[in-house]
Amino acid sequence: MTFLRNAWYVAAWTQELAAGALLSRTLLDEPVVLYRDADGTARALHDRCPHRFAPLSMGKVCDGGASVQCPYHGLRFDATGACVHNPHGDGAIPKAAKVRAYPIVERWSALWIWMGEPERADPSRIPSFPFNDAADWAIGAGHLAIDGEYELEIDNILDLSHIEFLHPLFSSEAVRRAKVDFEQDGDTVWSKRHMTNDMEAPEFLRQAFQIPPGKPMDRWLHVRWDAPASMALWSGGVTSGLPPEQGVVVPGAHCFTPETAGRTHYFYSISFPRAIGPMAETLAAQNVEALRGPFEREDKPIIEAVSRRMAGADLWDLKPVLLSGDAASVRARRLLKTLIDKETTA
Ligand code: FES
Ligand SMILES: [Fe+2]
Repeated sequence: MTFLRNAWYVAAWTQELAAGALLSRTLLDEPVVLYRDADGTARALHDRCPHRFAPLSMGKVCDGGASVQCPYHGLRFDATGACVHNPHGDGAIPKAAKVRAYPIVERWSALWIWMGEPERADPSRIPSFPFNDAADWAIGAGHLAIDGEYELEIDNILDLSHIEFLHPLFSSEAVRRAKVDFEQDGDTVWSKRHMTNDMEAPEFLRQAFQIPPGKPMDRWLHVRWDAPASMALWSGGVTSGLPPEQGVVVPGAHCFTPETAGRTHYFYSISFPRAIGPMAETLAAQNVEALRGPFEREDKPIIEAVSRRMAGADLWDLKPVLLSGDAASVRARRLLKTLIDKETTA
């Protein structure tokens, strides 16, 4: 399996990395250790000491964040990956004593890592998630490990026609019958699902979108995918007949980072504007917890079962039957393949 390397991936949510702590995470088949330096800036190093290959993540943050000490024989490395302390012999630093440092940027409440050529890391290419700006939004964020390929997760979010069948709580025929538009803009693909005059939406959704009793609602699910695997979902609703601008929109992130070829980190979030007052925090905390249920009990098992059935085969080699809801995910997969081919042949 070849990953797109010159791209930004979510390595962790901001809140997952505390000062003084070491967070070990396998990303694109590479062990990475994350920590915060003396300024609190997030840093990322290859999680393998060049001496006897101990995981640095089992060591400790030293010198107030200026270095990480290997747990085994005490070599220390700074944020550039250079060895800055050798407690053995005359203390000379062996030339080869360095580890790889990865560009990492804290933005949109997440830590974005660049696993490709460091000189090509351009933070302006991090996709925009304005609703994950903690200054204006209360954000509920979660992380799940999925035993399945990250492309299956992209397909899953780009084709929400599965909601009726897989998620009884959110089920409504209107979602399947919805009009779906898809668009491509550079390396971005949109899938926009619109449901009109829906009378069957579950009561909690009607309440969330403030629909008066007995009235039908118009709903929409707008999904944006940015290569390789950063996705945003805006779920909106308004009383039928009113303009969408008068409705309520709940945004969330669905970002996928391959751990290995067959295992995926799933970073999800849901946001409520601080403008609505202190209840924004409560809503964010409650809703991210409520979302975890279906993600963990409904999406995760089916993605993992699909992955087992596909047994590592390429999707196209299995000649999948394509349905109307597949247009966006087919587009995204083609685009991803083109980008990977371009990178590997460059
Ligand atoms: S393995 Fe790291 S100092 Fe020996
Ligand atoms: Fe789902």
